[in-house]
Amino acid sequence: MHPMCEHFVHGRIVMNASTLPVRPAAHTLFLGALQAAQAVRNHGVEACLHGMVDTLHCDFLRWHDFAKCARLASHSSDGVIELMPVSDGTTYAFKYVNGHPYNHHHALPTVMAFGVLADVATGLPDFLCELTLTTALRTAATSALAARALARPDSKVMALIGNGAQGEFQALAFHHILGVEEVRLFDTDPAATRKLIHNLQHTTLKLIAYSSVADCVRGADIVTTATASKTKASILTPELIKPGMHINGVGGDCPNKTELHPDVLHACRVFVEFEPQTRIEGDLQHMPQDFAVTELWQVLHNPVLGRTSDADITLFDSVGFALEDFSAMRYMRQLAHQQGLGSWIPLVPALTNPKDLFSLIRPAEPNLAQGA
Ligand SMILES: NC(=O)c1ccc[n+]([C@@H]2O[C@H](COP(=O)([O-])OP(=O)(O)OC[C@H]3O[C@@H](n4cnc5c(N)ncnc54)[C@H](O)[C@@H]3O)[C@@H](O)[C@H]2O)c1
Repeated sequence: MHPMCEHFVHGRIVMNASTLPVRPAAHTLFLGALQAAQAVRNHGVEACLHGMVDTLHCDFLRWHDFAKCARLASHSSDGVIELMPVSDGTTYAFKYVNGHPYNHHHALPTVMAFGVLADVATGLPDFLCELTLTTALRTAATSALAARALARPDSKVMALIGNGAQGEFQALAFHHILGVEEVRLFDTDPAATRKLIHNLQHTTLKLIAYSSVADCVRGADIVTTATASKTKASILTPELIKPGMHINGVGGDCPNKTELHPDVLHACRVFVEFEPQTRIEGDLQHMPQDFAVTELWQVLHNPVLGRTSDADITLFDSVGFALEDFSAMRYMRQLAHQQGLGSWIPLVPALTNPKDLFSLIRPAEPNLAQGA
């Protein structure tokens, strides 16, 4: 067994001791947005990112244990709502997530999510978790896991295009996991860049704002794109790409929503999460069906499939895959148990007689003793 996966015994996740009250029958552990934030603050963002990277790494190494499918997307003119299921035969997970790039007009985030871990043996929902904050952590952790395998090991400078909700998490993950020291920032909304610099002023990261993509990207070892707009955009064009770069494309994650010029993909060795989903949703949608890609799990198993020289240009065409939410939720569940955070809720009924569902709504029987 890989050392990263020591907490698996016979396919079952071994949990550390819980400090939560004993679980009442058929109850589900609920971790809402505020409690998830509390759990992350208590544990520390750096430790959470490391923990999530390890959990993701372990689950990607178990790739063949999982029944996988592309997510189910429901598109509208404003955005998309998606359901993302996955199962390892012991635990079933799904995430509900939206992507509405113009949600700031409604004072709502672009991406909001929640999800469930359920017991395959009984179907009982075990854990109901907020996944808005958790998605930002898991996306940044996945980006860093991929970059650790693909970027040049001496990478110190990252350009970050798109400084919205995901921005700080991406910057911190590359800082803590890869040792990036300088993050160059560009957003079409300068207020987003100012917000990011303010939020990360307590770190040792060198943060510099730029007024164009070209200036921002020049000299960067790693380029992360995390923009939101429902267009076939070409934010990165071929003349901006230099030998040795690693590109972490996060925002091109829906049909007709891209960030990279097709010739950028031609110049790169392209890595994806789950190929059937990325062909539909990633920047890969530009390319013919036979355009060669490598799935991340393959590189994690066999590093020679990754970067072959300092001159390679590598692209992680990230769209977000259900397996990552499976990992992120089991990590958050562990944090909740360790810290005694969250509450047991009767999401499904606990019945004395499981065949007597009607007992929940049966009129109360008259108290004969009282009437006598
Ligand atoms: N791959 C994944 O797993 C994953 C996970 C979460 C989010 N996402 C995607 O990442 C993107 C960013 O998400 P978010 O939550 O930070 O959204 P957000 O709306 O909070 O931030 C997006 C930022 O992009 C900026 N922007 C838009 N067009 C731009 C352009 N042409 N150049 C520079 N900046 C531009 C906006 O001004 C905004 O500040 C979204 O497209 C989202 O769907 C992907």
